[in-house]
Amino acid sequence: MSIANVPVSTLADMFGTPSYLLDIADLRERCRDVVAAATEAGEQHGIETSVYYASKAFSSTAVLRWAHAEGLRVDVASLGELVTALRADVPGHAIGLHGNNKSETEIDLALQHSVGRIVIDSLSEIDLVAERARAAGAVAPVMVRVTTGVHAGGHEYIATAHEDQKFGLSLATGAAAEAVTRILAAPELRLLGLHSHIGSQIFAADGFVEAARALLGLRSQVAASTGTLLEELDLGGGFGVAYTPDDEAPDVPALISELIATVARVAGETGEAAPALSFEPGRALVGPAMATLYRVGTVKPVRLEDGGERLYVSVDGGMSDNIRTVLYDATYTAALASRRSDAEPVLARVVGKHCESGDIVVRDVMLPADIHRGDLLAVPVTGAYGRSLASNYNQLPRPGVVAIGDGEPSEIVRRETIEDLLALDLG
Ligand code: LLP
Repeated sequence: MSIANVPVSTLADMFGTPSYLLDIADLRERCRDVVAAATEAGEQHGIETSVYYASKAFSSTAVLRWAHAEGLRVDVASLGELVTALRADVPGHAIGLHGNNKSETEIDLALQHSVGRIVIDSLSEIDLVAERARAAGAVAPVMVRVTTGVHAGGHEYIATAHEDQKFGLSLATGAAAEAVTRILAAPELRLLGLHSHIGSQIFAADGFVEAARALLGLRSQVAASTGTLLEELDLGGGFGVAYTPDDEAPDVPALISELIATVARVAGETGEAAPALSFEPGRALVGPAMATLYRVGTVKPVRLEDGGERLYVSVDGGMSDNIRTVLYDATYTAALASRRSDAEPVLARVVGKHCESGDIVVRDVMLPADIHRGDLLAVPVTGAYGRSLASNYNQLPRPGVVAIGDGEPSEIVRRETIEDLLALDLG
């Protein structure tokens, strides 16, 4: 197997395993396609559009530079993500600050760099942001994150717009409308519009359309009661990707074009000018652009209760570099990457080296029966929430990220060493 024309065996020799391998051209093309689709559909319907890369999926200065160079803005949700975006020279106006529990430090730094928007997540945050803006002598551009009640997406932990969870202001209880009223009355705040993020790993348009209808309804209600027609709606991220050949993931640029056309039509029905629209994909941009490369160690056949057999293939990482299988029951696939094998495929499970039986990277996959110690195994689509959710469980150093341009590999995030871990240990 090669990535961007470099054999993975060369990459393993140069950078070690496990490593996350990023195909730069693939990432940039995904970014470019999404921006082009949004711009084109926007122009067609007279709607201004912008796309934010949700940097929680994977945050590094190199990736943010590439994303920004392709026309994306950057969504950050912590001080670390904000500082990384600034370090990548993303201008403040192209940054959006999220978070359900923003600190004063985060808000202050955001204001100092005149970020494009701060997304308000609670009523109490209205006073907090207004107070910090007053102290900074600034007017803060804000949006209101609305809980629309739409339930979409994969696992319960990544669905975010139903009522009983921590994000946003409820449309149903009137909290969102109250937030709008309070913000409009605050001279330190400028209300740009309404935001909705309904969840992650979503394959269909309906949830987004339902959320957009809800936001448009609130926008009309605000216009009727205050005379202010809000400029912008943000429909969030959550666009799904195919982790295995069984997943029928959407064509994300096409889905975004469709959403823009739908919002233009629905807004047209109200007789009001269509709002500007923004989106915040993370996974769909960086997920498929990376694979994790592991070295195979112990291979062990295990007899199953039904008399069958499963080959347990242990790799040199595991739940510390990919927690998604355990946390969300996520499915992945894997392939022998360092040689060709004509051995018959057998039912296998890729497991890590951690001290838990739940340490599973790929639950079910067919691998050649002759797979053995020293082989390289690649697990694709690990770019989103792989490195960013990684841990040091069992004192494992987190893998580095190697980015490959055509034939040119270089490490964009260095592999941790045990000395890095011990440097934090004060004895
Ligand atoms: N915008 C907001 C406000 C978000 O909260 C998120 C993700 C995104 C955009 C980007 O969503 P994406 O397009 O990447 O699905 N750790 C979980 C995903 C958590 C997503 C949190 N918020 C996972 O590994 O599936």
